[in-house]
Amino acid sequence: MKVLFIASECSPIVKVGGLGDVVGSLPKSLKKLGVDVSIVIPFYKPIQLTNKILVQKNIRITFDSQEKSFNLWKTNLPQTEIAVYLIENKEYLSSKGIYIETDASSGGTSAEAGRFLFFSKAAIEVGNLLNIDILHCHDWHTAIIPYLIKKTNQNKIKTILTIHNLGHQGIYSKQIASQLLGIEFPDEVNCLKLGILNADIVTTVSPNYSKEILAEEFGFGLDKYLKQRKDSLFGITNGLDENTWDPEKDKYLIKNYSASQLRNKAENKIYLQRLFFKRENPSVPLLSIVSRLAQQKGIDLITKIFPELMKENIQFVLLGKGCSHYENFFKEMTSKYPEKFGAKIEFNEKLAHQIYAGSDIFLMPSYFEPCGLGQLIAMKYGTVPVARAVGGIKDTVENVKWKMENGKLVVSRDGFLFEKYQADELLSTINKALELYRNKSAWQKIQTNGMNKDFSWHKSAKEYLKLYKFLA
Ligand code: GLC
Repeated sequence: MKVLFIASECSPIVKVGGLGDVVGSLPKSLKKLGVDVSIVIPFYKPIQLTNKILVQKNIRITFDSQEKSFNLWKTNLPQTEIAVYLIENKEYLSSKGIYIETDASSGGTSAEAGRFLFFSKAAIEVGNLLNIDILHCHDWHTAIIPYLIKKTNQNKIKTILTIHNLGHQGIYSKQIASQLLGIEFPDEVNCLKLGILNADIVTTVSPNYSKEILAEEFGFGLDKYLKQRKDSLFGITNGLDENTWDPEKDKYLIKNYSASQLRNKAENKIYLQRLFFKRENPSVPLLSIVSRLAQQKGIDLITKIFPELMKENIQFVLLGKGCSHYENFFKEMTSKYPEKFGAKIEFNEKLAHQIYAGSDIFLMPSYFEPCGLGQLIAMKYGTVPVARAVGGIKDTVENVKWKMENGKLVVSRDGFLFEKYQADELLSTINKALELYRNKSAWQKIQTNGMNKDFSWHKSAKEYLKLYKFLA
């Protein structure tokens, strides 16, 4: 059974967010289970590869009413035998960066349509060249593929669409889409909707999210179509790449540590405090956020509680990029509270690892969250999440419980959850966490509970395998 992952990102070759992490890690576990899996991505301009071979030059497809061509390159997913194919075409894919919109949304411009509709058509051609049985498409960028496969009666090829983010759909006017694809569309084209309606199987990245999206609140206008596909809709929780995310082996950390040597985590905190605040302060709780600065991630709530939060005896570091009004807000706050708050407005893989390791509490107040990798990484690094009980967060974080037993505080579970998307709920939940932080042994128990959980891909990869077998 030959499976081809088709996606706009693949870590570590090219990554903006969690999508890239998943595409760069799930195939490794599938391979271990015996699946013949490879990956295809666009050959964006910034991609630098030392090790690549040209598979075929000038492969032709019809696009925008003309014959166009692309070159197909091949490299390996680092430290694996898994082939990553790259589609090179100067006109649409290879003369610019990854996304045109700064928040990685689907825009609606003809440039963005040209880029990903071209990529989708070219990827089908790659699938044919490689004799692929199952095309595994990810998010709106590739969601037109199941529709195109059905339309051209390529019935032997099966398709799976995995939704990482229902908020971005790839919506284009009928003129743009008809012109580029050479198909008469009666209405505007919504790539994600067409994928949902035509894929043999649709998956989301956590079981809870697969249920939430059937209702209007989280359906982003597509709940009606998702309901039609309910019997073919599955939720499978994301895992973490164990080679990348492991505090015992992480090459970016100042000091490696494990659940049984939590003392060493403290050195990572000192490093962070020196970096952001120029001096150390081991006893002050250090809060953190590593995130795209987008509304989805609940950044609104953070801006609302900010002045209150700054009254607490805490420090807070933030790493991320995204909407400019959030970026400006956090830059301003860095100058206003230089001793308590520090923001780095950038993508910085190394610093991300160091923040997960060096902070005490990780904030993730998402408005919606298909799976969320931040809370998983935080728990694995003994950094306790304060998060909203939504989407995949609800599937992966268990709300701390505590009671007094013989004069001792006894705690169980691994994070702090709140339900309603409200600033005061977030603030009171942070305060709850800060209260328990003062009790060292209780806090350590919460930390180690999270660290000892299984966040590997192993179980989830088996679930994907079941779906592949069902289709084959
Ligand atoms: C998107 C979602 C996030 C998910 C990730 C990987 O970024 O917003 O919840 O974890 O994709 O599937």
